Amino acid sequence: MIHIAVFASGTGTNALALIQHFSNNKIAKVEMIITNNPHAGVVKIAEENNVALKVIHPDELSAPKNLIALMDIHQISFVVLAGFLKKIPVELIRHFHGRMINIHPSLLPKFGGKGMYGHKVHEAVLAAGEKESGITIHEVTENYDEGKILFQAKCVIDKAETVDSLAQKIHQLEHSCFPKVTEEQIQIVHT
Ligand code: GRF
Repeated sequence: MIHIAVFASGTGTNALALIQHFSNNKIAKVEMIITNNPHAGVVKIAEENNVALKVIHPDELSAPKNLIALMDIHQISFVVLAGFLKKIPVELIRHFHGRMINIHPSLLPKFGGKGMYGHKVHEAVLAAGEKESGITIHEVTENYDEGKILFQAKCVIDKAETVDSLAQKIHQLEHSCFPKVTEEQIQIVHT
């Protein structure tokens, strides 16, 4: 059984989709949730679903020796970033080399990079007059945004599209694709 750790800072709807997908799965399960935000919705999701929760202090992230040790105790061998807003330290990326993925709510390389998260992405997409947007699931490497793209899915932008309606479409795409792509990737790297 592969143990997954999910890093999240926000509502945690993707974390929940992952927990549910892997709750009855032969190859993997969500073993722990790691967040930097003790008030995030994802904290409740971890508690309600009996998933181990670690709330990390910024210092524990910048010097991640103890965090890595904790993840080793939980036998984590695959890491999923699902809306984690802090920079992942290079030691952690090296430790999970080839076994860490991220989801981004646009069609990278468009609308990625520093400051592009949450609604800011959708605002930028609409301001640029794009006809479509979508999601990107990519490997996390030391050059954060340059990891290999594993999967993209698109949605149409309607004339009356708003940031909220686009965010909703993107979330739906994420929830239906992210768990499956995660499972496929786990199978690729662990066989
Ligand atoms: C998602 O849109 C994801 O693409 C981005 O952060 C958001 C997290 O949403 N990286 P949620 O907390 O899973 O609802």
